Amino acid sequence: MPQKPMPPEGMSKEAVLAALESLRTQDADWRQGRMFGLIYNAGDDVEDMARSAYSAFLFQNALSPFAFPSLLRMETEFVSMLTTLCGGDDETVGAMTSGGTESIFMALKAARDWARAHRPEVSAPEMVVPITIHPAWNKAAHYLGLKILQTPVRDDCRADMDALRAAVTDNTIILGGSAVSYPHGVVDPIDDLGRLALEKNCWLHVDACLGGFILPFLKKLGHDIPPYDFQVPGVKSMSVDVHKYGYISKGGSTALYRNAELREYQFFVYTDWPGGIYATPSMSGARPGGTIASAWAMMHYLGQAGFMERADRAVTAAKRLQEGINALPDLFVLGSPPATVFSFGSRTINIFELGAKMKERGWHMDAQHMPASLHMTVSPVHETIVDDLLADLKEAVRETEAVRPGEESEDAALYGMMGTMPDRKAAKEFALKYLGELYRLKS
Ligand SMILES: Cc1ncc(COP(=O)(O)O)c(C=O)c1O
Repeated sequence: MPQKPMPPEGMSKEAVLAALESLRTQDADWRQGRMFGLIYNAGDDVEDMARSAYSAFLFQNALSPFAFPSLLRMETEFVSMLTTLCGGDDETVGAMTSGGTESIFMALKAARDWARAHRPEVSAPEMVVPITIHPAWNKAAHYLGLKILQTPVRDDCRADMDALRAAVTDNTIILGGSAVSYPHGVVDPIDDLGRLALEKNCWLHVDACLGGFILPFLKKLGHDIPPYDFQVPGVKSMSVDVHKYGYISKGGSTALYRNAELREYQFFVYTDWPGGIYATPSMSGARPGGTIASAWAMMHYLGQAGFMERADRAVTAAKRLQEGINALPDLFVLGSPPATVFSFGSRTINIFELGAKMKERGWHMDAQHMPASLHMTVSPVHETIVDDLLADLKEAVRETEAVRPGEESEDAALYGMMGTMPDRKAAKEFALKYLGELYRLKS
């Protein structure tokens, strides 16, 4: 396949926008609430706020807080507001990043460098986390030269503390847990992890990328949320994404630290460059001003009351969906997820086939394995689709029951095969080849 040539001459703005619009027709129709991941939809007014704030700072670059003091002010104010949502105190600090992966990366790098100073006897640092931790942790471990040990979860999908404790060695410098976990939407026993971290002099990082902007408001609404934030002694850092339940566009997250001394391990400074002294708080160099502006704007536009109202709508939809799913004899919700993320499986029908049947009806639910399940991330906008979805699900279950083994759709067969491949090395090889093929120019 020859490379795609760049247009020799420019096109009109109208022509370019029309081309973009036509490309977009193939994308998932997320505005109608038929998708349960990737996008966190709190309605048109919230989208409009995020867009307006972003465009007002479209080209400003947070690399230089001196050139753009407005960004510095908004970032420090945003982080400060967030610390109180995360059970912090006047000592709690943080830094904005480009997403959950970068926040986790930064916190684990800080933890590694803290251990170099405070646990110098450790030459082969390890971290111990439950199997349900997000793969961003595996990615960070890979980049940072940390060994990652993953322990099983209990039947309720929360970390098994006995297994976790048993995996800790003299080399363990980091412990981790999620609030909420991506696969099952549950909060790990962070208070137990905190006690273990203090006992073993480990750094405990709480991955609240998904839950950080919803759990505080559910707590205020009176929902029973287990302890998970800086109120737990032993928690040294947290990651909280703004581009999830903070409702801004992609590119915004925060790494928070119990105090400034811990955050310093995140920073990078290089003083011998002919271009000047280079000092950055996070991984990125240039950083989009739009992200900072929209994060700051959303805090002010919604306020605590607005976030609470959206959290209430999302959790009500999530609970109604869970009740409807549990009422179908073939299906069950995994664990007891307290917030707006959950997954469901089946002991009687092929859940991937059910996912394919729902896709035929225009519903996009991500498939998961270990155990096989479908994943739902519920946003405020989903309050409008609960009845339609449950009606379609009932029909799709009936159709799935009628599918004979070996007659599953291609999607279901492929996912089932990937999930149950006993040789995970082969699954990795397959996925690598698949990625290469996916990111190849096509006609
Ligand atoms: C619990 C958790 N941690 C980390 C991440 C990674 O975040 P990002 O995709 O923004 O890098 C996610 C994403 O869904 C998540 O759910």
